[in-house]
Amino acid sequence: MRMPLFRRPKRWLALVTGLALASILLTACGENSPSILDPAGPIARSESGVFWTILIIAAVVFVGVEGMLIYSTIRFRARPDSPTPPQTHGNTTVEVIWTVIPAIVLLIVLGVTIRGIFDVSTKPEGKTIEVTAYGHQWWWEFYYPEYKMTTADSLVIPPNTNVHVKLYSNNVIHSFWVPQLTGKTDVIPGHDNEKWFSSDKADMTYEGICAEYCGTQHANMRFNVVVTKDNNAYLSWAQKQQQAAAVPAPGSLEAKGQEIFKNQCTTCHGIVGVSDETPYLKDPNPMGQCDDPTKENGCLIGPNLTHFGSRDLIAGGVLKNNIEACQPGGDLSNCNLAKWISNPQGVKPGNDMAVNVSNEDLPALIAYLESLK
Ligand code: CUA
Repeated sequence: MRMPLFRRPKRWLALVTGLALASILLTACGENSPSILDPAGPIARSESGVFWTILIIAAVVFVGVEGMLIYSTIRFRARPDSPTPPQTHGNTTVEVIWTVIPAIVLLIVLGVTIRGIFDVSTKPEGKTIEVTAYGHQWWWEFYYPEYKMTTADSLVIPPNTNVHVKLYSNNVIHSFWVPQLTGKTDVIPGHDNEKWFSSDKADMTYEGICAEYCGTQHANMRFNVVVTKDNNAYLSWAQKQQQAAAVPAPGSLEAKGQEIFKNQCTTCHGIVGVSDETPYLKDPNPMGQCDDPTKENGCLIGPNLTHFGSRDLIAGGVLKNNIEACQPGGDLSNCNLAKWISNPQGVKPGNDMAVNVSNEDLPALIAYLESLK
């Protein structure tokens, strides 16, 4: 007697194939997964245009060729007593046709690709803001030369404005990628790369990714591109970022936190108005040599924290800065900043952060950092 499992192999085959295909389709359906097929700016639209053009041409060629193949295999299959079919070898007309058609198809693909290359590498017309993106291991730092300020994890930009990004690394090769706004560009030590992109949607947040393997936490080297609701909102954000850090009230929990910061964190982090290091009031070395505190360029190992409380991500995008769970005097068990400071190597193994803040000091330090709006 046959085992029931094998009774209908065809049905099983269909089921397994169906599930496999469904899993591929559904993988792309995550609400937050950024997709190049959902472009939000002219550069990304040009890039997805190249993709769609090539996909459609390839699909037509595939269906045409496979269709003819299947048709011929069935229609002209050998039957008993069938004669030898007519031989077409050396037929000039046929040879010319199947040389010319692929050549035309490839020329169209070439044309579309070259146009796309010009689209992404030509300086666009119109208003432009300047940003320098530094790839660290493993987080992104963004320097705004017009405002002499740095931020981390979030690149804030105005809508409908060209963003000119210079890409620097002094460590390993990273790759800057915001799937919905711009394709990948490598961030190479000692090699100046740059790019332009813009968002034509306002009041949006897009996910950015490091797209070049750069060490153990490569997958956790994320950032957000935050598009403000208009240009004024961008300017007021920039103005706020230029100011020195908020000063805590004397005797408050935050004031105690500031003392802990001064004692424990200033080797790697700067807060303008608090620690001596004022990284974002000087131009970082143009080669991006900002990682070594012994260098004279004033740059620090860790992110500038002057306006930490206004950021939406921490730890290179591994955690959300969930301020609502980090209220002073409240329960910190769900506070991501508490998780990060109390066990950085557990959250992101291999990163440079080495702190030893006692459980007693932690609430004050968190209250202080989150108050830095
Ligand atoms: Cu940086 Cu991968």
